[in-house]
Amino acid sequence: MPRVVQPSDDMIAEASRRLRAGEVVALPTETVYGLGADTLSEAAIECVYQLKGRPFNNPLIAHVLDWNQAQSILDFGFWNLDSPTPVQPIIQNVRSKIQQLTHAFWPGPLTLVLPKSDRVPPRATAGLSTIALRAPSHPVARRLLQAFGGPISAPSANRSGHVSPTTAQHVRDDFSSEADLLILDGGPCALGIESTVLDLTSFPPRVLRPGSVTVEQLRGIIPDVEAPPIATQAASPGTTALHYAPRTPAELIASSQLHERLQHSTGPMAVLALDVTGIAPPHRAIVMPRSPAEYAQSLYRALREADSLNCVRILIEQPPAHDELWRAIHDRLRRATAV
Ligand code: TXA
Ligand code: MG
Repeated sequence: MPRVVQPSDDMIAEASRRLRAGEVVALPTETVYGLGADTLSEAAIECVYQLKGRPFNNPLIAHVLDWNQAQSILDFGFWNLDSPTPVQPIIQNVRSKIQQLTHAFWPGPLTLVLPKSDRVPPRATAGLSTIALRAPSHPVARRLLQAFGGPISAPSANRSGHVSPTTAQHVRDDFSSEADLLILDGGPCALGIESTVLDLTSFPPRVLRPGSVTVEQLRGIIPDVEAPPIATQAASPGTTALHYAPRTPAELIASSQLHERLQHSTGPMAVLALDVTGIAPPHRAIVMPRSPAEYAQSLYRALREADSLNCVRILIEQPPAHDELWRAIHDRLRRATAV
């Protein structure tokens, strides 16, 4: 079994020592837990892919302490900013826009895709000339970044394709056979769904993955940010439709059809329901919050719990879609239920 430890100063030092030795360490962030490795070590990055079973064409997010540290792995030469005829279309005043974005949303759940420096090994970005990076706000992640003193690449700490982890125990469950894995326990993640990914190297800039930082907030700084509608949204590089998925088949269902489905079911169903009245044995109800922030926070825990109940199917009562956080939640639900 992996070792789950409280983030004492000694343990942060131990985790940092392991990162320096090219090992992988699981760390909490405010969104989900990550499986961290030294961004600048090709071998360490390789370990992360192997441990996760992640396809090599799916690039990683590098975590940094702040914009200063971010700059150490970026190279704006890609944009040829001083040339009167830029190599490719680019938003006006891109430097100042990035500064405004990081000022407003870092540390926090906003990942920016930017041109990478040659210091970053190709494996860390799946061969792309760009790198996704964010500064997490979780105090334990920040203490580790500080102690390590460099960028830490970390995908969500789940086996590839499985539901993302929002507690140390979830990470332990996914990697139960990895006796050497150290997991820093930072408690349950406050936000519960992965960061918003904004690609600033496409023109106009495009949201590749919706999250807690909303398109509306981003448009307050860059008015022409594009956000394709969820159903048609091109996945980020390397991601497939079926993602964030429990092992039991899962299905989204309208509230009005829920009870009929349960009546005609041939086996027990696990239901993530906003309203649990009338859901009786053999079916199992997991009550979901009605506020989008609380729903996001408990979604992955609920999916993992539903998965453990030995039901024939997971039914997810369709939540509202009227605001942007609900939109991000629907994106995850769509992937969890894709066939
Ligand atoms: O909240 C989060 O972002 C969490 C925590 C641990 O920080 N991390 C996370 O990592 O969700 P992961 O690997 O599960 O998702 C990374 C996403 C993928 O959708 C990937 O395609 C996209 O970021 N991505 C990474 N590098 C990219 C790049 N250079 N260009 C475009 N998309 C990129
Ligand atoms: Mg992931």
